[in-house]
Amino acid sequence: MDSPPRSQETTLASRSGEALATIRFRPIGPADQIMLREFHDRLSEATIRRRFHAAKPHLSQPLANRLASVDGRDAVGFVALTTHPSPRIVGVGRYCRLDSVSAEIALVVQDGYQGHGIGTELMRLLIAEARVNAITRLFADVLPENTTMLHLLFRFGKTEIRRGYGVEQVLLAI
Ligand SMILES: CC(C)(COP(=O)(O)OP(=O)(O)OC[C@H]1O[C@@H](n2cnc3c(N)ncnc32)[C@H](O)[C@@H]1OP(=O)(O)O)[C@@H](O)C(=O)NCCC(=O)NCCS
Repeated sequence: MDSPPRSQETTLASRSGEALATIRFRPIGPADQIMLREFHDRLSEATIRRRFHAAKPHLSQPLANRLASVDGRDAVGFVALTTHPSPRIVGVGRYCRLDSVSAEIALVVQDGYQGHGIGTELMRLLIAEARVNAITRLFADVLPENTTMLHLLFRFGKTEIRRGYGVEQVLLAI
């Protein structure tokens, strides 16, 4: 089977079709740690809470290291970057294997860039990699009010929601 494309560029467009910015998607790597911490510092409190379910004003060095450490099989991540004037991360998606067929997935897109398809593209890239690595079930912990993430997951296949304490665990069959 051919490998899915792992790097690509896309032009973000407004609802009226106006071109907004060129976004490059590529696999995350250890060299991204500093850019990852800078990206986190640009996120609003609400976005951070939806991603981490807690306040986290800064990304610690050990966590940045963990998020940027991937092996392309059990831990996979992609970054979305603006290319002008210099590369800046504006979105991150990752999965981490739980067992032979399951993985946990998480996404975050910088506030001003949300609602233009970056999350959808990150999800598409992660699903393609997950399939290559024999993963058939993706889990995401989502706050119940986070309808954007819930809709995004619903668009990618059959979902099952397990309600926990203050968080919904969504199972997506891929
Ligand atoms: C959830 C999240 C990752 C989604 O990323 P995103 O880039 O905003 O997602 P998309 O733009 O692909 O999709 C969001 C909406 O924009 C719409 N959209 C996508 N491209 C569009 C475009 N070019 N023009 C207009 N609307 C567009 C989608 O249809 C979708 O609409 P819906 O919510 O009605 O289904 C992002 O909102 C985020 O970072 N949230 C905070 C962190 C978080 O919740 N993480 C999830 C924890 S697992």
